[in-house]
Amino acid sequence: MNATTIRRIILASMLTAAPMAALMGGKAWAESPVDNYGLFCVQCHGTKGVGRGINAPSLAVQPRNHTSAKDMGALSDDNIFKAIKEGGVSVGKSTQMPPFGGVLTDQEIKDLVKYLRVMCKC
Ligand code: HEC
Repeated sequence: MNATTIRRIILASMLTAAPMAALMGGKAWAESPVDNYGLFCVQCHGTKGVGRGINAPSLAVQPRNHTSAKDMGALSDDNIFKAIKEGGVSVGKSTQMPPFGGVLTDQEIKDLVKYLRVMCKC
């Protein structure tokens, strides 16, 4: 095998690795917390995270203000992780905070917890 052939094989395996991982089930990589927040959270928590998303007026319980150091500072990382993964009910809060365990991986949820800590500066 000469160097060119080896280079071709390496290139081919690099190009197929990601789609293969995706086909074999499970995501090959985690979406960034910014993207996930923009996709799954802003409808209720708002694009700026203050809890005034487009759905907020029709919710009986108002979504948490993720920029409030007072509100968010009272919650442990475990509490936040659980609320996102298993929904509000799992931490004694409203069912209107849905569970995301089916669409987000544990790693993505951990990244979101870190992202929320940045938002609340707490
Ligand atoms: C359908 C609307 C809705 C969506 C979508 C939503 N939330 Fe919520 N969320 C709520 C409501 C309502 C509450 C307040 C629950 C309460 O206080 O009883 C809440 C509360 C929370 C809390 C505080 C939990 C606690 O223990 O006080 C966190 C953290 C949170 N949401 C994170 C998220 C994240 C992250 C996403 C996106 C992955 C998200 N939420 C998407 C409605 C929503």
